[in-house]
Amino acid sequence: MVQQRPRVVVSVEASVDGKVALAREALLMRQPSADLWGAMTPPAPDSVAIDVLEVVRQQYGCSAVLEGSGSLVAEDDILEQLPTYDGDPAGLYTHFLPAEITAQPSPPHMWFTVVDSRGRVRWTEKHPDWDVLVLVAQSTPADYLGYLREERICYLVVGDERVDLTQTVTAMGTELGVRCVLSTAGGGLNGALLRAGLIDELHVKLAPALVGGLGTPSVMDGPPLAVGDAPTRLQLVSAQTDSAGSVRLHYVVPRT
Ligand SMILES: NC(=O)c1ccc[n+]([C@@H]2O[C@H](COP(=O)([O-])OP(=O)(O)OC[C@H]3O[C@@H](n4cnc5c(N)ncnc54)[C@H](OP(=O)(O)O)[C@@H]3O)[C@@H](O)[C@H]2O)c1
Repeated sequence: MVQQRPRVVVSVEASVDGKVALAREALLMRQPSADLWGAMTPPAPDSVAIDVLEVVRQQYGCSAVLEGSGSLVAEDDILEQLPTYDGDPAGLYTHFLPAEITAQPSPPHMWFTVVDSRGRVRWTEKHPDWDVLVLVAQSTPADYLGYLREERICYLVVGDERVDLTQTVTAMGTELGVRCVLSTAGGGLNGALLRAGLIDELHVKLAPALVGGLGTPSVMDGPPLAVGDAPTRLQLVSAQTDSAGSVRLHYVVPRT
């Protein structure tokens, strides 16, 4: 029997003009962007807000959330220096999946998966029932992989110059038994998933606001279509509005 790759569902919140942030370097997890972004969605007694993670956990047994490093680190951030790895770096470039972490049953165990071929994210928080899974490549600095091993943080080596997303999704299924991945990433990673033909489903919540700005991250960034290439068609599953002007859209990507 041919094993199916895990289902990939994208969930994103955007302004009506499709922006997913207020400006390129203004991460939503930081202030003042977090509050300004939240204020774009007025409260409503009939709010369209839903917990998409809970929906896909119930529906598909989703056990992994996917993020890009761009949600956690800005390009102009000054990163904390890591110690130099003083062992043989060759041994670092294989998956690091300690059994005491991977053997945890799901549910309740979940993966917080982050694409980070440049080794930019420093990990300081720990949450019950969640473990971090970093996606790296052969190009990732050895010092970073040494740091992940020292901290007992799982990683998959999937790709050469950068993370190969098709290989990633397949490896998450075969190595970790993941059946569904929920991407809550920004436009860079979601655009790359789109170009790799990996998106199966999309949940979008539109806030009644306009952000504007060339270069501000949008729902799907990444490389433009080549002339003559067709856009990805979507099939509507549901559409809802609330009395404060927010809209929730749910689509699937039909497979022909
Ligand atoms: N409104 C929302 O729902 C929402 C959700 C998430 C984030 N955001 C906001 O969106 C902004 C971040 O968006 P962003 O577009 O800058 O960052 P992003 O979506 O995190 O995109 C950058 C990430 O994608 C990876 N990537 C890009 N192209 C790739 C490719 N072809 N193959 C493999 N990996 C690829 C990069 O890899 P490397 O790290 O290896 O370079 C990096 O990890 C932040 O402001 C954040 O707050 C909004």
